[in-house]
Amino acid sequence: MTGQAQATILGIETSCDETAASIVVRDQSGRGLIRSNVVRSQLDEHAAFGGVVPELAARAHVEWLDHIIAQALDEAKMDLSEVDAIAATAGPGLIGGVLVGLTTAKALAASINKPLLAINHLEGHALTARLTNGVAFPYLMLLVSGGHSQFVLVRGVGDYERWGGTIDDALGEAFDKVAKLLSLGHPGGPAVEAIAKKGDPKRFKFPRPLLREARLDFSFSGLKTAVRLQAEALAPLSDQDVADIAASFQDTVAAVIETRAGQALEKFAELFPGQEKRLVVAGGVAANQRIAAALEGVCATHHAQLIVPPIALCTDNGAMIAWAGAERLALGAQSALSVAARPRWPLDDPDMNVNPDAA
Ligand code: KG4
Ligand code: ZN
Repeated sequence: MTGQAQATILGIETSCDETAASIVVRDQSGRGLIRSNVVRSQLDEHAAFGGVVPELAARAHVEWLDHIIAQALDEAKMDLSEVDAIAATAGPGLIGGVLVGLTTAKALAASINKPLLAINHLEGHALTARLTNGVAFPYLMLLVSGGHSQFVLVRGVGDYERWGGTIDDALGEAFDKVAKLLSLGHPGGPAVEAIAKKGDPKRFKFPRPLLREARLDFSFSGLKTAVRLQAEALAPLSDQDVADIAASFQDTVAAVIETRAGQALEKFAELFPGQEKRLVVAGGVAANQRIAAALEGVCATHHAQLIVPPIALCTDNGAMIAWAGAERLALGAQSALSVAARPRWPLDDPDMNVNPDAA
């Protein structure tokens, strides 16, 4: 079965603390156009707890999702009946929230008798650069968010190879934890970056775990512990101490990312000799300017192209889910209404393969 070349997709994202819906159109030539992209962040609901509380997140998704979908249709000046397919995150993520989005998508797809596409959230991140920049396969993706830190080789839709991940904390999580122990509030990434601007990045020398090893994995919990021990040793901390610790932590992280990205680009070049090297960044940590500068540097050294989609599309959103749905639909894919929500779902899982005959 061939896929639908031109399609209008409703995308739904509820796997963490953003309730999001978007309308994306994919034209005959494969270009994407975002007609609407509505994101409601639950930051305020979770702020008092210093992190995302799964039960509160699921409740807020239940309360808001219908409104957010209605707003996405409204902003796109569209009726649900004009949508060609409905895509929703089916995992990985907080299972209560994923269930809210996927169940809603199933009900809507059944009500208008249109295909359902159960999307892997990480695939949404992985394919965003094709929506925003029309990037061709293959490319390398660095996903650095609150829940993930990994390099992924993106060969095609549904064809991913994970080249390493974190063996403990995700990078965004490390920023959040360091912010918490420095009493900088939640989410920690932007707060650490802001205060680090006033700090001396050379004052403290923190460990760079795993860096001597060739594998492309990350580990940030030892670094976080080193930061905590340093903060305890200096307590009570002056404003300058806090700024210096934040700056030193951020520089250490940037150095780790830079080294690892260099290794990943070398591996890419070995695998695809003569092929243009492209590194796509995704996830909330992509907003960090110090890390972005490190990535620019390493890409320049390796003559690689660095692609950073607009930050609103690097963080969780419905457009990336709609787009992944559009790419799959164009290849003839479709999900059964019985498809299950999954708390864990690695990108290189065999069931990510797009089988055009399966639809
Ligand atoms: O992708 P994202 O919005 O949500 C998911 O985790 O899925 O990423 C959020 C993470 C948080 O941990 C936040 O602290 C981090 O991204 N972050 C940053 C910055 N902005 C957001 N980390 C470092 N520097 C930033 N400027
Ligand atoms: Zn995400």
